[in-house]
Amino acid sequence: MSDFASKYAIPLSEPEISGNEWKYIKDCLDTRWVSSVGSYVNKFEKMVADYIGTKYAVAVVNGTSALHLSLMACGVKPDDEVIVPALTFIAPVNVVSYCGAHPVFMDCDRGNLCIDVHKVTDFIVNECKRRSDGYTYNKKTNRRIKAIIPVHIFGHPTDMEALLEICGKNNIDIIEDATESIGSEHKGKMTGSFGQTGCFSFNGNKIITTGGGGMVVTDNKELDGKIRHLSTQAKKDPFEYDHDEIGYNYRLTNIQAAMGVAQMERLNEFIGVKRRNASLYKKLLKDVDDVEFLWEKNWAKSNFWFYTLRVPKGDKKPLMRFLLEKSIQVRPIWKLIHTLTMYKGCQAYAIENAVEAYETCINLPCSVNLKEKEINFVVENIKSYFSNQVV
Ligand SMILES: Cc1ncc(COP(=O)(O)O)c(C=O)c1O
Repeated sequence: MSDFASKYAIPLSEPEISGNEWKYIKDCLDTRWVSSVGSYVNKFEKMVADYIGTKYAVAVVNGTSALHLSLMACGVKPDDEVIVPALTFIAPVNVVSYCGAHPVFMDCDRGNLCIDVHKVTDFIVNECKRRSDGYTYNKKTNRRIKAIIPVHIFGHPTDMEALLEICGKNNIDIIEDATESIGSEHKGKMTGSFGQTGCFSFNGNKIITTGGGGMVVTDNKELDGKIRHLSTQAKKDPFEYDHDEIGYNYRLTNIQAAMGVAQMERLNEFIGVKRRNASLYKKLLKDVDDVEFLWEKNWAKSNFWFYTLRVPKGDKKPLMRFLLEKSIQVRPIWKLIHTLTMYKGCQAYAIENAVEAYETCINLPCSVNLKEKEINFVVENIKSYFSNQVV
């Protein structure tokens, strides 16, 4: 079992820190380059841009700020609408509110839990109208649909090909929430490289971490400049304290970037482990009736950040309780955001699969340092739960 300070024998997701992290952070401390300027920030940005295959990358304090700055740089204004998944971590919805805009909630695909691109298409074609100003408007609210935030849920890529087609035709910006999917690919192209911007998170539970941290990637020079500017208090003069708009203190520190560089050096290795462990779970769970280990689409290569198990509806909570009692940390997937108090009044379009997913899906332990015998232990307990149910 691991040394991570978790109260569980098998934690859900713990960071793997056994490379050059100490060395590079010590370098920052020794040289006094600890704040938001320094060679590691530049290096980390370049490594991520090169890895994703974009021209630019801006390091920021977390994935939420990456999304917030992306929306602002793309020109999302108060009273605009932004299409978001109902099934997601809440950050990509909250950033829409930070801009004074309104979320429109969409259903998920039953297979990969990402936004249902067919329903997005139906919504845009049937419920919206393109006006002479070139923008697409929601017929019901008369608001402009300025952007969409597809989230590559648990590392699984959204069907970006179909999304690019419908959004391209309707002048809707795509801000990819790739916070969970660094290294995942859609037909050989990295998630985060399809939209106007792609946003990453290096929170402690992600495949690679800087404690807290984020990155925006883009091929658009103007967006890169705007995002960099807004993330540094919109200071326009390197010498004078001259600011030309309301900005934010959203830059990543050199210490965190140093950790990021060390983690990036290991990323492909980590993804290899995640994918091998996913295959092992899948193989071991194959004979358990009524459960399904969620898998990637045939056009996708997932980084398998999180492992998701679909179980019969009534079994979700009892199975979770059973596994938690065995000191196996499992987690329910997110409550659907359109059902939360703050978002109850917002438009939600034909949400069906997401309801089923919430009622039936749980996440299993997935740390990079998860051992084969631990996966066996998790699966044996799942089997034991279901065999007791039958008896
Ligand atoms: C889908 C999704 N979007 C956004 C975020 C926000 O990232 P951060 O926690 O770095 O702000 C997270 C998770 O942390 C996430 O899972």
